[in-house]
Amino acid sequence: MSLPVPLRRATRRLGWYQAPAEGRVGRLRLDFNENTAGAPPAALRALARLGRDQIASYPEYQPAERKLARFLGVRPEQLTLTDGIDDALRVVADAFAEAGEPVLLVEPTFAMYRFYADLLGARVVTLRYDDRLRFPSDAVLRALRRERPRLFFLANPNNPTGDLRPLAELRRILEAGRRTMIVVDEAYYEFSGVSVIGWIRRYPNLIVTRTFSKAAGLAGLRLGCLVSNAEVLGALRPLRAPYSVNAAALAAALAVIRDPGWMRRYVREVTRGRAELARALGRLGVAAYPSAANFLLADFGPRGPALVRDLARRGILLRERRSDFGRAGWVRITVGTRAQTRLLIRELERWWKKNARS
Ligand SMILES: Cc1ncc(COP(=O)(O)O)c(C=O)c1O
Repeated sequence: MSLPVPLRRATRRLGWYQAPAEGRVGRLRLDFNENTAGAPPAALRALARLGRDQIASYPEYQPAERKLARFLGVRPEQLTLTDGIDDALRVVADAFAEAGEPVLLVEPTFAMYRFYADLLGARVVTLRYDDRLRFPSDAVLRALRRERPRLFFLANPNNPTGDLRPLAELRRILEAGRRTMIVVDEAYYEFSGVSVIGWIRRYPNLIVTRTFSKAAGLAGLRLGCLVSNAEVLGALRPLRAPYSVNAAALAAALAVIRDPGWMRRYVREVTRGRAELARALGRLGVAAYPSAANFLLADFGPRGPALVRDLARRGILLRERRSDFGRAGWVRITVGTRAQTRLLIRELERWWKKNARS
């Protein structure tokens, strides 16, 4: 069917982000790096307390922004709420990406960076992790100096590799890219413990993103934020839709930061489970990439697709990353609670014994 008005040229060329399929609830969701324990009890209580008036009114952001800013150690004018990081990335791209001008990415990385750059018709300059999944540090510094991209999106830790750029390297990147807005996407910060939020005053080219979708267990409510110096934030804030964050997300997120102990205990479980899973993969002879996030990227070789399919039939969802590497075998596994990790390890071992030689 032809459209009455043809799509914009940049829109016609877009690749799609593969959003979760239906039927995941109730299964062991190790495919999208969410919190697998479910929403925090304090958030559920806050949702139950939402008043009729609160739901009937447009949400008020200032009180929540003040509280979240205090929680993150920044000033309210240095932060704004967004409808997940996805929305934050759109706002940043709308502000700084320009048709035909460079945006730098190191792939494989989170697919939405390319999506928004492409949407705006930017010229995407792509560097790649090498065959041993090493980050091309020198090439990044060179590209920042030579190309002067308008934007560089860097997930730290990165998805799907899980690797973490150390602070010294981030400093070099921010210095080399003084004419580039450097977006450090800290979606997995709670698991890595490494943040550059404290540098937003020192580096006027730094934007940090955070989310409540991962450790905080609120992916279904959609809440993220943008953090930067007040000047950049002042330019970004008007680009948000006026009510893109809903009242339920606000109430739940405030409950999470009022009692961060639950989230911290979950993070501890995940980091222990991650080590346990890495050891188990090692015993099976499966290469797993060191990760600072709540997932592991493992290379199961030619059996990868069959493994993902068979485990899905047994109610365990993993994510194939063929699209990132141009060959089957790489599988990203979200790490959940200890009990979930142990169940996964038992299933992996069982499957591997049965199929490793076939
Ligand atoms: C690096 C990275 N950034 C952002 C997101 C999306 O976050 P949100 O749910 O807040 O939109 C993800 C989700 O997988 C991610 O891996």
